[in-house]
Amino acid sequence: MLDLKKITYQPQTGNKKILDDISFNVHENELILICGKSGSGKTTLLEIISGLTIPQKGKITWKNKTISARQRRWISGVVFQFPERYFLGTTIGKELQIGHKNMREKNIDIVLQKVGLSNINLTQPPEQLSGGQQRRLAVAVQLLRNPSILLLDEPTAGLDWSMKNDVKNLVLNLKNKNTIIIVTHEPSLFKGITSKIINIDRGKIKKLLIENHGR
Ligand SMILES: Nc1ncnc2c1ncn2[C@@H]1O[C@H](COP(=O)(O)OP(=O)(O)O)[C@@H](O)[C@H]1O
Ligand SMILES: [Mg+2]
Repeated sequence: MLDLKKITYQPQTGNKKILDDISFNVHENELILICGKSGSGKTTLLEIISGLTIPQKGKITWKNKTISARQRRWISGVVFQFPERYFLGTTIGKELQIGHKNMREKNIDIVLQKVGLSNINLTQPPEQLSGGQQRRLAVAVQLLRNPSILLLDEPTAGLDWSMKNDVKNLVLNLKNKNTIIIVTHEPSLFKGITSKIINIDRGKIKKLLIENHGR
C-alpha cells in the first residue's frame, strides 16, 4: 500500500500552500482517480508522490516503510501531460530503448502487448501513430522500467472522443495488474472503473469517494 499522511507543500517562491494536509492511500493493484479543477494542485501531488518534489510536511510510506524522494522516483513510472511532445526516439523502437542499453526484444514485446500495440511497425517514427496510440507508447516506455506505481497526468488531455475511449480501454487493460493513479480534470470518463475518487480543491481534499464496483 502507498500511504500519504498529512502532506503539505508550499513552494519557496510562493506565499500560499499548494497542497494542504493531504492524506489517502492506494492499495497494490488498485486504480484510483485524483480529480479537480485546473490549478487545484493535482500535478504537484503527482510530483510529490513520484519524488520529483519534496513536501515540507507529511510522510509517505510504501508497504509500511517510509520511502525517500529518491526511492519514490525509483518505484514510480510517470507519464506526464502530453507525453508525445517529449518523444526523443527517431523510431518507435528507439523510443522504447532509450535508457535501456541491453533491453531484450522479448521485454519490449511483452510491454507492447500489455498496452495493445503488439503488431506495430517499430521502424516508423512515433508521430505516425494515432493520438491514442502515442499515449499507449508513452505508457509502454514507463512500463519497461517495471514501476511499482504508474502515474498518469491528464492522460486524455487534447484527444478527441474516440481517442479518449482508446485511453480508457488501455487503463482497463492495465487495471488489477498495476497500481495506477490517474490525475484528471475530466473524471467522468473514468467513473465506474476506479475504486477511489479523490477530489482536490485549492490544495485540499474536498471529497474522497470509495466505489465498490471499481475493484
Ligand atoms: N513552483 C511553483 N511556484 C509557485 N506556484 C506554483 C508552482 N508550481 C505550481 N504552482 C501553482 O500551484 C497551483 C497548483 O498547480 P498544479 O499542481 O499544476 O495544478 P493542476 O495540475 O491541478 O492544474 C497552481 O496555482 C500553480 O500556479
Ligand atoms: Mg496538472
